[in-house]
Amino acid sequence: MTWFVVVAVSILVPSAFCASDAVAWCYHDPTCNETTWSTIAAQYCNGTRQSPINIVSASATTNSNLTAFTFENYDNTSALQTIKNTGATVQVTLGPGVKISGGGLSETYDSLQLHLHWGNGSSIPGSEHTVDGKRYPMELHIVNSKSSLNRNTTLAVADPTGLAALGFFIDVRPGNKTGQPASWSNLTSYLSRIIKNGQSENIAPGISLDNLLSGVDRTKYYRYHGSLTTPLCNEAVVWTVFKDPIMVSSDVIDLFSTTVRISDNTSALMVNVYRNVQPAQPVSTQPRSNSSSSSSSSSAASVRYSVGLMVLSIVGFLIR
Ligand SMILES: *[C@@H]1O[C@H](CO)[C@@H](O)[C@H](O)[C@H]1NC(C)=O
Ligand SMILES: *[C@@H]1O[C@H](CO)[C@@H](O)[C@H](O)[C@H]1NC(C)=O
Ligand SMILES: *[C@@H]1O[C@H](CO)[C@@H](O)[C@H](O)[C@H]1NC(C)=O
Ligand SMILES: *[C@@H]1O[C@H](CO)[C@@H](O)[C@H](O)[C@H]1NC(C)=O
Ligand SMILES: *[C@@H]1O[C@H](CO)[C@@H](O)[C@H](O)[C@H]1NC(C)=O
Ligand SMILES: *[C@@H]1O[C@H](CO)[C@@H](O)[C@H](O)[C@H]1NC(C)=O
Ligand SMILES: *[C@@H]1O[C@H](CO)[C@@H](O)[C@H](O)[C@H]1NC(C)=O
Ligand SMILES: *[C@@H]1O[C@H](CO)[C@@H](O)[C@H](O)[C@H]1NC(C)=O
Ligand SMILES: *[C@@H]1O[C@H](CO)[C@@H](O)[C@H](O)[C@H]1NC(C)=O
Ligand SMILES: *[C@@H]1O[C@H](CO)[C@@H](O)[C@H](O)[C@H]1NC(C)=O
Ligand SMILES: [Zn+2]
Repeated sequence: MTWFVVVAVSILVPSAFCASDAVAWCYHDPTCNETTWSTIAAQYCNGTRQSPINIVSASATTNSNLTAFTFENYDNTSALQTIKNTGATVQVTLGPGVKISGGGLSETYDSLQLHLHWGNGSSIPGSEHTVDGKRYPMELHIVNSKSSLNRNTTLAVADPTGLAALGFFIDVRPGNKTGQPASWSNLTSYLSRIIKNGQSENIAPGISLDNLLSGVDRTKYYRYHGSLTTPLCNEAVVWTVFKDPIMVSSDVIDLFSTTVRISDNTSALMVNVYRNVQPAQPVSTQPRSNSSSSSSSSSAASVRYSVGLMVLSIVGFLIR
């Protein structure tokens, strides 16, 4: 997850790579790539709950608090406002009134922006999180800030749960149909107008967040506590990584690594814009649900199950 326009509101320290970050960081120049982040932004990038991580599915504990989310204005076809080349990603700002709650979060969070991470075309993957070692072609991040903090990003990055990030993997849609789905085809139609760092375009009404997230069961996800994945790497993020990927045709995925550039229109193409995985963190997920159950065995199973949950919560208590 990256933090650009929003941080600009409060921090305002210019850098060569991103007008809003306190340090000049980058993905590829050896003088500022991720191997240097723990030095150039040591306060947080060198921390102990850094993101992204490799999620080991078999090690995820179950937590029945991880209920469904409520998504407000995710069906609003005017909520995607502008699309910008930040020099390190493509970021879309979201209008007011876009919110999430539930999902085991402590309160409602405002959805502020979304942005993407990618590799080099659909065959060189560039998601940030990996699952059981698998890296997906792309990853979409929706950045949310605690509503009680009133979009004050200084306060949000100083709060261990000030931000909630939703991570969605993007995978190659099978078949040879191009331009799929229409929402992603529409979104990527703007890329040719934001080739240069700093360029921004208004997004015409017509596509919603729900359109972009189509096909994902948003009740199935992993949860852990981590950080921003770009400097300053603040450890302020409640991460939600959804299990189902968004399926996008390879021609649409390929547009990211072949269209936008890191600086002017003769600079390098923006490729491999992701941070490598950091040390593991405790990950939780929903209890396995089983709708097809038969009477007697299922009640025995549910007794065993609650005992299992009790043991788990005692263990969780001891660890805390
Ligand atoms: C960063 O630069 C160093 C050289 O200083 C290089 O060894 C390393 O592979 C680079 N990492 C990335 C992710 O580009
Ligand atoms: C990062 O943290 C490690 C372990 O705490 C420490 O050994 C190292 O010197 C730190 N590096 C920087 C640049 O602060
Ligand atoms: C679930 O939520 C309750 C109420 O907030 C809390 O007391 C409990 O510790 C949570 N359980 C887990 C496993 O996080
Ligand atoms: C949809 O979003 C736009 C932009 O944020 C907002 O002005 C409008 O009121 C929203 N529509 C509804 C029905 O909430
Ligand atoms: C990205 O892929 C293109 C096309 O396959 C290739 O020409 C280019 O060298 C690759 N760039 C990097 C940085 O790997
Ligand atoms: C955010 O909160 C801090 C601390 O209360 C305050 O100093 C700052 O002015 C606020 N920033 C904005 C943009 O309101
Ligand atoms: C595209 O898919 C259709 C149906 O699956 C198939 O008949 C056709 O040969 C495919 N075309 C290419 C170029 O792969
Ligand atoms: C798709 O994007 C174009 C701009 O690239 C816009 O003019 C058009 O209205 C959009 N179509 C839909 C259906 O949203
Ligand atoms: C690059 O941008 C400059 C200035 O905006 C423009 O004059 C030039 O034609 C552009 N070159 C290409 C290859 O698009
Ligand atoms: C659900 O429970 C039924 C019977 O209790 C069992 O046969 C089935 O394998 C279970 N399915 C899953 C996905 O656990
Ligand atoms: Zn991100």
